[in-house]
Amino acid sequence: METAEIRRRFLTFFERNGHTVVPSAPLVYDDPNLLFVNAGMVQFKPYFLGQESAPWDRATTVQKCIRTQDIEEVGKTSRHGTFFQMNGNFSFGDYFKEGAIRLAWELLTTSQDAGGFGLAPERLWVTVFTEDDEAADLWVANTAIPRERVVRRGLADNYWHMGVPGPGGPCSEIYYDRGPEYGPEGGPAVDEDRFLEVWNLVFMEELLTAVRTKVDFDTAGELPRKNIDTGMGLERIASILQGVDNLYEIDEVYPVLERAAEMTGKKYGEHSGHTAGESHPDDVRLRVVADHVRSSLMLIGDGVTPGNEGRGYVLRRLLRRTIRAMRLLGYEDPCLPQLLPVSMERMSRSYPELESGFARISQIAYAEEDAFRRTLASGTTILDAAVAETKASGGSRLAGDKAFQLHDTYGFPIDLTLEMAAEQGVEVDREGFVRLMDEQRARAKADAKAKRHGHANTEVWKELRADGPTDFRAYLELTSEAKVVGLVRDGERVEELEPGTRGQVVLDRTPFYAESGGQIADEGAITSDGSHLRVVDVQRPVKGLIAHTVEVVTGPLRLGQEVSAEVDPQWRLAACQAHSGTHVVHAALRQVLGPSALQSGSYNKPGYLRLDFAWNGGLSAQTRSEIEEVANLAVRDDLPVSATYMTLPEARAVGALALFGETYDEQVRVVEIGGPWSRELCGGTHVQHSSQVGPLTVTGESSVGSGVRRIEAFVGMEAMRYLAKERAIVAELTELVKVQPGELKDRVAGLLARVRDAEKELERLHQAQVVAAAGRLADTAVDVNGARFVSHDAGAATADDLRSMALDLRTRLGDGAPSVVALAGVTKERPVVVVATNGPARERGVRAGELVRIAAQTLGGGGGGKDDLAQGGGSDAAKVGD
Ligand code: ALA
Repeated sequence: METAEIRRRFLTFFERNGHTVVPSAPLVYDDPNLLFVNAGMVQFKPYFLGQESAPWDRATTVQKCIRTQDIEEVGKTSRHGTFFQMNGNFSFGDYFKEGAIRLAWELLTTSQDAGGFGLAPERLWVTVFTEDDEAADLWVANTAIPRERVVRRGLADNYWHMGVPGPGGPCSEIYYDRGPEYGPEGGPAVDEDRFLEVWNLVFMEELLTAVRTKVDFDTAGELPRKNIDTGMGLERIASILQGVDNLYEIDEVYPVLERAAEMTGKKYGEHSGHTAGESHPDDVRLRVVADHVRSSLMLIGDGVTPGNEGRGYVLRRLLRRTIRAMRLLGYEDPCLPQLLPVSMERMSRSYPELESGFARISQIAYAEEDAFRRTLASGTTILDAAVAETKASGGSRLAGDKAFQLHDTYGFPIDLTLEMAAEQGVEVDREGFVRLMDEQRARAKADAKAKRHGHANTEVWKELRADGPTDFRAYLELTSEAKVVGLVRDGERVEELEPGTRGQVVLDRTPFYAESGGQIADEGAITSDGSHLRVVDVQRPVKGLIAHTVEVVTGPLRLGQEVSAEVDPQWRLAACQAHSGTHVVHAALRQVLGPSALQSGSYNKPGYLRLDFAWNGGLSAQTRSEIEEVANLAVRDDLPVSATYMTLPEARAVGALALFGETYDEQVRVVEIGGPWSRELCGGTHVQHSSQVGPLTVTGESSVGSGVRRIEAFVGMEAMRYLAKERAIVAELTELVKVQPGELKDRVAGLLARVRDAEKELERLHQAQVVAAAGRLADTAVDVNGARFVSHDAGAATADDLRSMALDLRTRLGDGAPSVVALAGVTKERPVVVVATNGPARERGVRAGELVRIAAQTLGGGGGGKDDLAQGGGSDAAKVGD
């Protein structure tokens, strides 16, 4: 029975029994605790946890799942697959143990003709939780299972919970006996290869208050409404109903394995028997390929793209492991273009969207293979040399700096280095590698800091700071009445700054924001009676002291003078928009891409922001729009923006995001936009409500190094102007080609097609002209020692033109008498010459190659060829006549 049919029967059976058929949730599901959906009940968690009431009493699904904890085991045992489907029936406070047992039994044992799975009752075993007498009795009372095939097992095997406080309960598992050729007698407790688990019925009846491990948790009594959650491995039941050994051999997986075997010339299964413990490495590799290709297909289908972290990294690993396995099987060409379509053909029977989306899916997969092949090519050589060197010097441990170099220079992921080194019997100094990674990060930070305070003479600032800190009032006001407490010019303290000069001013208090945390310094003015200074930069050269770099317009400004320090309010508003916008974009990124998309740096100035974040691979246009949409919705929602002070541990406890590696004060400032939606440690200035950010438009997304992407956006009026400019371009274009904006794309595509057609037509006419010219040239043949000789300077002509003209002429001259054709032309300022001879001419010893060589020498170049047709060229076009 095909897997798609098993799936259909499962859903139909439960639908007939009053269950609503609910579609599979995508593999990537909005659940912060999960990388991927890994069980059928995930999308129903809120119902089981009592957070929401279920819209139905009974539901059934076939859920796509990914589990990669055991990725290394794939192919070695028959039980591990990274992608699988879980059939499930769910009762939300409706039927309980008896109902679940009766339904499961009926579906499993009803004959295939009558729509069931037709398993022989005498092959089935069940397990129940040690203390669950009720379930044991229900099995015996309601089914043909004899008491001796009801096995009791402890918490580790027969209790199920979600790993978090909430409902949990004992479970009961149904096993199928595959027969003595698979292992010893004795039931599931003795051998889980022979006795294959096919279905787990979870009886959610208790409330768990604390969960420490799978077997260590506290309970607080019975649930008022008891639930049923079941999980049947679709691949397991398929392997039974298809009479195959393991999940790699079922109809949805095997065709890929077969294709891989064909491509590599391997014979699957020729080395091993059924029960032999270890499979041949080639068989394991073929299974890895079959499993991973399918998982990759399903992941990309659900929107995952290869990357260096989180979900993207799982996918990248699956694809790379596939490619590596194929290489180890001896296949070095791109393999995915041959394997992925096979998997798609199979899987689209249950998931038709894989077929319609295959252009996108395959493009992502093939691009990753290309990239990995390039990485492999450069890195493998380096790695092999390093391994050889390690061995030659008697070591068995590859130095951390080698692994670091491979990572840093060649993009070789560390796990690949570990794996490939291990294959050659060498281990890797992992700690050394990690240390170098950390050092590199620290260096990059120190560089950035040094740049910020570049030329400052810190002694001067320390002296000024000794008189007390600057009263920093940027969060409170835009204008402060202040006193000049320090003046600096060219790194020296001075008494006054004259008009026309540039220097630094230190005030006792200031409303100016000094550049930090990615936000650039405020602009504005410092004024007093008789002096006006433009503030062009504001920095904090030492902690607690703020220095304004000014240009003195009128003055002088003297030490001790009373001044008014005024931030340009327009500037500040736009700066606040940009900084709040940065937080909004960061939160939107994490909402769309997941929590691994963490900011690693940012820069914002009035109207513009950019943010660097951990991510690998470009964002699709769709993802970019999604991020933009989420950001603008947050703006529309007019979320309150607030700043509060707390200790660092308190900030961590509320989940505030801190920049990796930053050091923070005792009290930190936490800026929130819309409560928990955006919560970051930040010293910047912000708007009061998200709506003040104004429109936000993403203008670019690019790579800024391995695993780091940069997103750029305009906010507020800048965003409006940017959009207006784009609209103007569209307007000009529509005016130019005379269509409505919606038709622009089709019209331009149409125009381009016409240009292409016109170019082709031009080419055709040109050819026709060449041929016509050749016809006339045949009449110009002169007699040279009894041979007909045509020579012609074709002017601007390519070697191709000349060749076809020469061949045409030779044909026209016929074979009645010796003929020689010599043509010259100039293409891209270089002379070209082509000579053709006919049979009678060659019989008389005339060779085209020799004639061309002589001609090409005259032209200052070289050439040659065969006796009948030859081509050459040179550099001196003026000699064509010669
Ligand atoms: N939720 C249960 C499982 O995953 C059915 O095994």
